[in-house]
Amino acid sequence: MDKGFREYLDKFVEFTNQYNKEIYYANQGRDDIQAPVEPETGRFLAFLIKMTGARKVLELGCGVANSAIWMAQTLKEQGGVLYTVDNHPRTWKEAVENVEKSGLKEYVTMIHSDADEAVRKLREQGLEFDIVFQDCAKYIYTVIYEDVAALVKKGGIIVADDTMFPVCENVRPNLGRHMDRYNMQIFADKRFFSTMLPVGHGLTLSWKI
Ligand SMILES: C[S@@+](CC[C@H](N)C(=O)[O-])C[C@H]1O[C@@H](n2cnc3c(N)ncnc32)[C@H](O)[C@@H]1O
Repeated sequence: MDKGFREYLDKFVEFTNQYNKEIYYANQGRDDIQAPVEPETGRFLAFLIKMTGARKVLELGCGVANSAIWMAQTLKEQGGVLYTVDNHPRTWKEAVENVEKSGLKEYVTMIHSDADEAVRKLREQGLEFDIVFQDCAKYIYTVIYEDVAALVKKGGIIVADDTMFPVCENVRPNLGRHMDRYNMQIFADKRFFSTMLPVGHGLTLSWKI
């Protein structure tokens, strides 16, 4: 992103949890983790949760819990909870610590698991979510497509991150292809009304009608 854009955004898009701000900047430039979402994406997730009055949100791909804290902070304020899933053997410990240090532990159910297994189990438990935020391995968006579609309530929203990978510079073509397949599938799916926003590496928003 253009430096001027970044500086201007940072002037307004303030973090809602101070510890999250520390995590975000402390983890910048690390090459052993996948990038946390940018503040404008985190704040957009918070905005959606507030606007829809969401009470139950599922995140697939917790990383070191940056986006999880954005969402949990907002959910706390309106009596909601976040379920977050990640299968990483090493960064999971960091995610757990970060959620604890953010003061939001009681609002977050942390599931250390592969996303495909987690969504299957959540369905077996009969759970439904107001919002599902997809930010795990790109190939898996289409693999778990039907489970995610079933887990989101009627009137709920799926927010999928990195969906403009097909046209982003410095992104491996196979990742772009996975995202293209996902976009093709969800934009053609009559159960949803979808749109795409060029925030971060792209967000596809799908409202379950
Ligand atoms: C881009 S990072 C998530 C960043 C996080 N949403 C944030 O903004 O802080 C993607 C995460 O997905 C996890 N992941 C990848 N494939 C997965 C899978 N099949 N099941 C569960 N987690 C997975 C990785 O371990 C990684 O931590």
